[in-house]
Amino acid sequence: MSDQLLDAFDAAQMIPGFVAPKLPREQPDRAALDAADRNTRHWTSTASGPLTPGSDTHRHEMCRMFRETFNPYRPSVIEWPKLTPEALKRIVELPIWDVAVQTEGKARLRMAAYAAQLDDDDVRDALALNAWEENRHKEVLSRMVAAYGIELASEPPYVYPRDVEWAYLVTGYSECVDSFFAFGLFEVARRSGLFPPELIDTFEPVMQEECRHILLFANWVAWHRAGLSGWLRIRFELKVAAVWVYLGWERIGLARAMDADGNEHRHDKKFTMNGAQSVTDVDIDTAELMRLCLAENDRRFSGYDPRLQRPRTTPNLVRFALRFMRRKRR
Ligand SMILES: [Fe+2]
Ligand SMILES: [Fe+2]
Repeated sequence: MSDQLLDAFDAAQMIPGFVAPKLPREQPDRAALDAADRNTRHWTSTASGPLTPGSDTHRHEMCRMFRETFNPYRPSVIEWPKLTPEALKRIVELPIWDVAVQTEGKARLRMAAYAAQLDDDDVRDALALNAWEENRHKEVLSRMVAAYGIELASEPPYVYPRDVEWAYLVTGYSECVDSFFAFGLFEVARRSGLFPPELIDTFEPVMQEECRHILLFANWVAWHRAGLSGWLRIRFELKVAAVWVYLGWERIGLARAMDADGNEHRHDKKFTMNGAQSVTDVDIDTAELMRLCLAENDRRFSGYDPRLQRPRTTPNLVRFALRFMRRKRR
């Protein structure tokens, strides 16, 4: 693997006190993979009583959840399955690879930048691990893209954010929206049989990792919010509202992506909304897809302590929209 594919991001260098996890050198056997999969999906706090947002117990337990559900897979030992010409064509033509690689590149830096300036050791370490995992996602994608000969646009430079809190909030809420739809689309792709099961299995830990990320983010927001009062709280709520406006603007397709050479690329942020047809040959209507996203969202979160907060906004908006869709169909 060339240095171009493995760029120089190092969360441990950026974030005080963070030590990157040690990963097993060798290819894990089936039993080890199954154990890691179980561990990453299930977690219950040993603390008794409620996990009240803003409390020390809540902070401690959300960070512990994140640490203890870590999945130690190593991207470099992934064996990329051989694809039929049709499956290869389908994958190469998915309009997501540039956006996916660049999104991970931005997410790792923004999370690391926010983590680096935190005083609380526990929270800093959890967010640092999150940044490290985003870098690992980028590595998985880069290796896949190289293995299948997918051509990427040159990546724009990743710029250290000026407002690290804004950048972290944009990344966190983006992940909440995108992961919700990705869970459903991933299941559509799995059921379609158009992709080899080994490839679906390879991406499964990445999908569940995004579920852990948004679980951590939802709890961080609740914890952080509860600790603010007066004008700091008002300022934070205004910032959160502005983030949602920004994400709405971005997702209706006004955002454009430029590569490092200044060429514009189709930045398919709407893929999550209209991409189902690229991953299946079965007709699936929007309501059906939304119900599947909700079911998958519930399934992926079901193994974690119910006392932890969940991301609510996207599922609630979709539930609301579904009521309207059903009424319209009658
Ligand atoms: Fe990621
Ligand atoms: Fe993530």
